[in-house]
Amino acid sequence: SQTSSLEVPDSAPYRENDEYADVDWDNLGFGLMPTDYMYVNKCGAGQHFGHGQLNPYGNIHLSPSAAVLNYGQGLFEGTKAYRKENGQLLLFRPEQNAIRMKSGAQRMCMEAPSVDQFVNALKQTALANKRWVPPPGKGSLYLRPLLIGSGAVLGLAPAPEYTFLIYASPVRNYFKEGSAPLNLYVEENFDRASRRGTGSVKTISNYAPVLMAQLRAKKNGFSDVLYLDSATKKNLEEVSSCNIFIAKGRCISTPGTNGTILAGITRKSVIELARDHGYEVEERAVAVDELMEADEVFCTGTAVGVAPVGAITYQNTRMEYKTGSGTICQELYNTLLGIQTGVIEDKKGWIIEI
Ligand code: COI
Repeated sequence: SQTSSLEVPDSAPYRENDEYADVDWDNLGFGLMPTDYMYVNKCGAGQHFGHGQLNPYGNIHLSPSAAVLNYGQGLFEGTKAYRKENGQLLLFRPEQNAIRMKSGAQRMCMEAPSVDQFVNALKQTALANKRWVPPPGKGSLYLRPLLIGSGAVLGLAPAPEYTFLIYASPVRNYFKEGSAPLNLYVEENFDRASRRGTGSVKTISNYAPVLMAQLRAKKNGFSDVLYLDSATKKNLEEVSSCNIFIAKGRCISTPGTNGTILAGITRKSVIELARDHGYEVEERAVAVDELMEADEVFCTGTAVGVAPVGAITYQNTRMEYKTGSGTICQELYNTLLGIQTGVIEDKKGWIIEI
């Protein structure tokens, strides 16, 4: 469709008509499907972000010496907009993404939008692309905020200019397994993060380095890899794109956010919901040996949601876990997705309706 740039108002949100885009809603996966608009805002080093705008989705103009291209000075976020039966769009804890981007920007020596600017930009982007938000029960509109060092540098230094951008794509299941249980491989030859590094930061530079292990695992029939801590190789860290939980009886454990673990918003929400449901939840070092004893294992992440793990292979031993009806994973999945989609009342104040 024909689109042109839109000025983004600070308060009253921009509204596109409600008509659906021409999409096969029953066959969504997690591939890029460009939508009408993307949000763009630029800011000089040492300055504050001002007004942004919604531009037609398309390529961006960057200097070959942009800091993000040469030195990886960049962050990304991920969040989803769901469509309710009444046509309203729901955002889930978007201020948490804003806060994480702000702290990541500090670590990466970048300027960042304020929490209000970030949340307002997300609302505008979701509304401007409303016709790409799947019908209820068919998925969500994945919103991908980026903060990049767009200014030119040659020597290693922070960029003189930053671009905050949000694009969107309709999505459903992240893994090709769909909602079927994942089959993970414990990776011992590569590490994801090291102490005092940037493992806890949602920097773009944490993601390409996991591709090699991931591709190798996929070639061998696994869904993805599960990393161990680089110092001792005795404790679980996370999967390439999501956090990990194990359950034994009514006790759920997940690696603590000690600097190498990405502090997932889904992770944090699932911990809170599990405690509300009467489970004991521990954030601590989780030994790889505990995989032998666990009843259930599951992954959490914005893109992944709450995904059951059916099997894990560690040093030639394949362990299998309970999945499906009656599991803790399923209970937490239903509760979280219910809140996110407006089917379960949000008693937490997590949802922003637009
Ligand atoms: C997300 O879960 O939204 C992420 O950012 C992970 C990404 C690798 C898809």
